Amino acid sequence: MHDMQAILDDIATKVTALPDRGKVATYIPQLACVDPDQFGMTVALPDGTVYSSGDAQTLFSIQSISKVFTLTIALGKLGDALWRRVGREPSGDPFNSIVQLEMEHGKPRNPFINAGAIAVVDAIMMGHQPKETIAEILQFVRFIADDNSICMDDRVAKSELLTGDRNASLAHFMASFGHFKNPVDFVLGTYFHQCSIAMSCEQLARAALFLVSDGLNTSNGTRVVSAQRARRINSLMMMCGHYDGSGEFAFRVGLPGKSGVGGGIMAVAPGKASIAVWSPGLDHVGNSKLGTIALEMLAERTGWSVFGH
Ligand code: DON
Repeated sequence: MHDMQAILDDIATKVTALPDRGKVATYIPQLACVDPDQFGMTVALPDGTVYSSGDAQTLFSIQSISKVFTLTIALGKLGDALWRRVGREPSGDPFNSIVQLEMEHGKPRNPFINAGAIAVVDAIMMGHQPKETIAEILQFVRFIADDNSICMDDRVAKSELLTGDRNASLAHFMASFGHFKNPVDFVLGTYFHQCSIAMSCEQLARAALFLVSDGLNTSNGTRVVSAQRARRINSLMMMCGHYDGSGEFAFRVGLPGKSGVGGGIMAVAPGKASIAVWSPGLDHVGNSKLGTIALEMLAERTGWSVFGH
C-alpha cells in the first residue's frame, strides 16, 4: 500500500517549486483574475477516503470538466441515440476549433470539444427552459459528489457570455444544418452556466468516484450509470479529454482525464482511485501545466495506468 499522503505532499512540494507554471486563461475575463500561484490535489479511494495536498479545498471554475457530467446526463436521457448528434473520435484540433464542423456537416467529432458539448446541451434540454436544465445539471453534480453546497458562479457565466463569440459561432453554425432543437441562445446560456460550476479538488475527486468502480459510487452505494457506460465515458476521456493534447496526456499519464481552462483536471484510475488536480496556469494547448506534471508523477509513483500494472 502506498503512503498516499506522503506522495501527494511530495508532489505538491516539487511541482510548486517549478519555475514555469504556464499562463492563466484570459479569454474569459473572470478567469484572468485568478491567482496563478495556487495548486491543489486530491486522491479519492473507492471507500470514500480522501487524501489532499495544497489548495484542495479552494473552489475553482471547472469549465470543460463539466462536459463529462453533461455527457453522462445525455446518455441517461438519450442512450445510444446521442451518437447521431455527436461523434466519438478524437479531434486533434483545439477545443474551440470550427474547421472540422464544416467538412463533417455540423456533427462535432466528440462530446468534449466545445461544439460537441454545446450539441450535448441541446440534446438534454428537450424543450425545457435554460433555468430548468441548469438546475438539472447542478442537481446531478451535487448528487454524484454527494455535496449540496456546490454552486455555479454567475459572474463567470456572464463573463463568458459577453466574450463568447466563438462559441456562439459554433452553435449557430451547427444550427444552420438544422441540427438544433432549442433556440441557440438558450443552449449557449445553459452551456456557459454548466462551465461556471465552482468546485474544489476534494469535491471533484468525489464526483468522479462513480467512474472508478464501474458506475457505482461505492462510498455511498449509489449506482450512477451501468458498468458499460462508465467504461465508455472513461474511454472518451482517454481519447478526447485533453483536445489536441490527448495523445500527450495518454502517453505521459496513462489515465482517462478531462481538463478545463480553469486549470482543473479530473482523472480516473479504474478500480483504484479518482484524482482531481488544480493549478490555473495552462500549457500551449490549454491544459493545466502543473496539473499534468503532478498527475504524471502520481502515475509513476503508484504504477496506476490503464496500459499496464
Ligand atoms: O467554452 C469555453 O471556451 C469554456 N467555457 C470551456 C473551455 C475549456 O474549458 C477548454 N478546456 N481546456
